[in-house]
Amino acid sequence: MLKEETLKVVINGQEVESSFGKTILECARDSGVDIPTLCFDSRVKATAACRLCSVNVKGRRLPVAACAQKMEPGMEITTDSSDLESMRKTILDLVVSENPTGECVRCEEIGPCELHTLTKRYGSKPGRFHGALSGEKSKDTNPFIFRDYSQCILCYRCTSVCGEVEQAHAIVPAGRGFGSRIAAAFDSGLLDSSCTFCGQCIQTCPTGALMDRKMLGQAKASEVTKVKTVCPYCGTGCGLNLHVANNKVIGTTPDWDSPSGEGSLCVKGQFATDFISHKDRLKTPLIRRNGVLTEATWDEAYDLIVEKFTQIKEESGPNAFTFWTSARATTESNYIMQKFARAVIGTNNVDNCSRT
Ligand code: SF4
Ligand code: SF4
Ligand code: FES
Repeated sequence: MLKEETLKVVINGQEVESSFGKTILECARDSGVDIPTLCFDSRVKATAACRLCSVNVKGRRLPVAACAQKMEPGMEITTDSSDLESMRKTILDLVVSENPTGECVRCEEIGPCELHTLTKRYGSKPGRFHGALSGEKSKDTNPFIFRDYSQCILCYRCTSVCGEVEQAHAIVPAGRGFGSRIAAAFDSGLLDSSCTFCGQCIQTCPTGALMDRKMLGQAKASEVTKVKTVCPYCGTGCGLNLHVANNKVIGTTPDWDSPSGEGSLCVKGQFATDFISHKDRLKTPLIRRNGVLTEATWDEAYDLIVEKFTQIKEESGPNAFTFWTSARATTESNYIMQKFARAVIGTNNVDNCSRT
């Protein structure tokens, strides 16, 4: 294997070793140096749209975007001068000037967004600059993704993730100047686009412009407990966090540390958890009597199962059985079902809808 070529640079007066091909941002973060970002998502090509990550490079007249600039040998970089900090505050003042205040529930209900975390850090407030307010609430009635482009800062993270990571190209940048916006084809709703409702645009959005519609109005962020688990729906095994409030699963977010999903989920892992508390969910065993399913006690149900299973096994042998389990049952229940099939009945005819 070829040895990775290394280079030496100086960041804030400290000599640092890095490798060719890395950006200033990557190298700085590897060395524990914090540079704020807004339009950056490590999974997609840098758009350098926000300029918040600007740093000074010795010999360059103007600051450069750390997320897009590749390291060069001998570079001397400053990331935290008072000029840079003041420029970052001005950028944030400009960004929030375009967003209406007091309307977004993202920070309160889902958790602090990246934009408002940064405006708090820099003491930025709307009102310093005046311009045309960009974007408006979308009339999109899809059941999953709430789109409010009055909160959009045109960072293009959603369109990059949708195109580069998901290959869905359901949303794209549209328009020019003050008319710039994020749009699905022909400004349609997402249901009429190539959207697969993976939810990746929601997860990357640094503002309240895109939110999980099902989570809205359910709880305050402070009431939510996140429980790390593995998506049961297929064999990929993506990691996710269940958001639990008032003893109810109100939604999910991806587990970015999961080795199989690396933060990606499909529509099922992202949105399909409402069956857990659904009112139609079966809570009492049903036994078919005279052709009609009637409620029974658990003892009645178990007695009937023992009677029928014993009869079938004696008459036709263990391989007359096939056991199918469900992704909507717990992992423990699925484990017990296959154990029962193999150890008690004596068959390996076991399957689960998660296998595919
Ligand atoms: S849900 Fe997925 S496919 Fe749909 S717009 Fe968002 S990123 Fe694109
Ligand atoms: S919707 Fe969110 S992710 Fe997309 S451009 Fe606007 S702020 Fe960025
Ligand atoms: S994070 Fe680098 S330009 Fe936006």
